[in-house]
Amino acid sequence: MLTKINHIGIAVKSLDESITFYRDNLGMLFAGIEVVEEQKVRVAMLQVGESKIELLEPTAEDSPVARFIEKNGVGIHHVAFEVEDVEAAIAKLSEEGVRMIDQKPRCGAHDTRIAFLHPKSSGGVLTELCQCGH
Ligand code: CO
Repeated sequence: MLTKINHIGIAVKSLDESITFYRDNLGMLFAGIEVVEEQKVRVAMLQVGESKIELLEPTAEDSPVARFIEKNGVGIHHVAFEVEDVEAAIAKLSEEGVRMIDQKPRCGAHDTRIAFLHPKSSGGVLTELCQCGH
């Protein structure tokens, strides 16, 4: 069902500061910024080899990422696994009793379709399923 880890999501307060660290200090390739209105976040992707880091900066106080930072502080927010067919993955997991936050895929950053598992079903780790392309 899974093909690889697509990215690690990291909640940050300042995209600019975090990009400087990952791009200039760690030497990752900066792939651009995108605003996801629905989630009230600005998202930056950085890449090294096949691996990606997704930096999430809240754009409003009621953004889910703002609430996450309030509760947990900045840091690792989620792990995203790539799947070939996100609908099929949701169906399989639901059938097995795994709780999903998203019963239906929604649009993620960078032309992906995503669905989150409920952290209660994944040992407290917010877990994303991510299908590239539409
Ligand atoms: Co993500």
